[in-house]
Amino acid sequence: MPFPAVGVCYYPEHWPVEWWEEDAHRMAEVGIQYVRIGEFAWSRLEPSPGDLRFDWLVQSMDTLGRHGLKVIVGTPTATPPRWMIDKHPDMLAVDKHGQARGFGSRRHYDFSHLGYREECARITRLLIEKIGKHPALAGWQTDNEYGCHDTILSYSEAARQGFRKWLEARYGTIEALNEAWGAVFWSMDYNRFDQIDLPNLTVTEAAPAHWLDFRRYSSDQVAAFNKVQFDLMKAARPDLPVIHNFMGRFTDFDHYDVARTLDVASWDSYPIGHLAVSNESDEVKATYFRQGEPDAQGLQHDIYRAVGHGRWWIMEQQPGPVNWAEYNPDPLPGMARLWAWEAFAHGAEVVSYFRWRQAPFSQEQMHAGLLRPDSEPAPAYHEASQVARELKELGIGGAARKGRVAIVYDYLSEWAWQIQPQAKGFSHHQHVRNCYVPLRKRGVDVDILPPSTTDFPGYDLVIIPALFSWNDALRTAIANFEGHLLIGPRSGSKTENFSIPQALGPDLPQNLLDAKVTRVDSTDPRRAVSVKGGGAVGHWRERLDTRAQVVLEDEEDFPVLVAQGKLNYLAASGDRALMQRVIDHLIEEADVPTLDLPAGVRCRVRGKWRVYFNYGDTAANLAPAQDEKGYVLGGAQIGPAGVTVALLATDA
Ligand code: GAL
Repeated sequence: MPFPAVGVCYYPEHWPVEWWEEDAHRMAEVGIQYVRIGEFAWSRLEPSPGDLRFDWLVQSMDTLGRHGLKVIVGTPTATPPRWMIDKHPDMLAVDKHGQARGFGSRRHYDFSHLGYREECARITRLLIEKIGKHPALAGWQTDNEYGCHDTILSYSEAARQGFRKWLEARYGTIEALNEAWGAVFWSMDYNRFDQIDLPNLTVTEAAPAHWLDFRRYSSDQVAAFNKVQFDLMKAARPDLPVIHNFMGRFTDFDHYDVARTLDVASWDSYPIGHLAVSNESDEVKATYFRQGEPDAQGLQHDIYRAVGHGRWWIMEQQPGPVNWAEYNPDPLPGMARLWAWEAFAHGAEVVSYFRWRQAPFSQEQMHAGLLRPDSEPAPAYHEASQVARELKELGIGGAARKGRVAIVYDYLSEWAWQIQPQAKGFSHHQHVRNCYVPLRKRGVDVDILPPSTTDFPGYDLVIIPALFSWNDALRTAIANFEGHLLIGPRSGSKTENFSIPQALGPDLPQNLLDAKVTRVDSTDPRRAVSVKGGGAVGHWRERLDTRAQVVLEDEEDFPVLVAQGKLNYLAASGDRALMQRVIDHLIEEADVPTLDLPAGVRCRVRGKWRVYFNYGDTAANLAPAQDEKGYVLGGAQIGPAGVTVALLATDA
């Protein structure tokens, strides 16, 4: 079993050929097993149309292969060369003000442009032909970070034409579309599909259903784009995994859909950069500015494990300061090791550091690598090597343990609440996090489930936060579930066409939940209302007409948490204290075992190991857990940025 393993991202085209051998030698010495190359190299593979120069790529793979390294080759389709724009001037994405986005960086293409899609198929076929049988080839990466730099939604002519066809296929008749979009409101009725425009540039907001369909359409284009490359790769080499490197905390397209044409999901983890650009409080940012927020990575790991149906990698792991936030702090010594261990504990097959050597030129010259620009080791070089050694010594393997708690994560809901927030910043992702963090603080392992889930086997507690609209799968799963359920505010408050359901939200059968949301009070999140017994609600509060048992209510006597049997409904957005109370109540009701973790320490079970990681900048002491036999790495005292691994008494 080649996993888990350490990898690195490498750009042979950035360095003199004479360096490659030594680079490969040192990579092997570090204990690196996987090297990703090629994903931005189009202008060097085909400097002008039809002028093919694949020799250097083959040579670099020969060199890496000689040192026993396995190579993942990325298609270079995120960086179409300059000549491509001459050939297809209309392939550039267009921003919401109608302005074409220019050449001179990357991702300057439109997912709807079929001419460019064909160019991508052509370069993929060429790659397959030239290196598809290379003995060092271990897998493919499609494109690079779909959506990075805000590139999913494009308001181009290609998108307009594509959208019209997509709508016709969805609705069949223009009358059906008018009905679904509520077009009678403001006389927005259409006579024909070819009259429909994209929802930007309207005088005031376009209809929410119009927007939502555009989001669905745009997401489908990413899936279609990925499928072209996947089909070619699988036809040629069914044995090799096709991988895409998704981004952290990115929701502009449906990742489950794209992953239908992938074998492995991967994501690019930059914990410090992500915290810097997140909406976390100043206090959290100040505490963890050299570590990243303790639950941010874990949640992404769990999401991508779900997206990849259990198979997932970190394709890019932050190794030191990045270059793209306002400030780019140096990680605490040990973090490059901790992040990798955390990913492995959540089930990652490979953690690949970005990048081998810091580039002394161009946009990312301030971004660290494992090597400095003068080829001397940077701190992460030693940490990566330590991880590789520890993995080997411990022989860690197996799958991430199935959690007893699961959370449904839904991209459609994220788009819906962006389209119609009603309370500024209301977000599905945030509500997922609000439930995830208190669980993780209690040492509870969590699984993420897609909204297409038809049952919840083996879970004691399932949480459905802020779900836009029920689908048949989830309705069936809920009706048949015998465990505890927590359904969050706003769930089921819309139909799939973005209208209020006749029964009003949460729109569940009365025998499951006898409750109706009759009014919503949305406020600036600072206008909190205390909840009797502790914690507060604010931002979103629903007034419920209900016969369910009121478990918690606020100081103004609004029910906050109600229960009917094992089904609980949370009718508000809660602050951290309230969410901890709610989660603590539910894990107790559902009899989910917990651990006593010091602040800043998290853990995750994989196979027969429990891995603890200390995001704090001071040492902490672990309380021995009943199911552990003892520590096999580190000990009860876990230093700042430290890792401790415990062996469990029974195999998970
Ligand atoms: C990622 C990207 C890499 C590199 C990196 C820098 O988003 O995939 O190519 O730009 O960020 O942190």
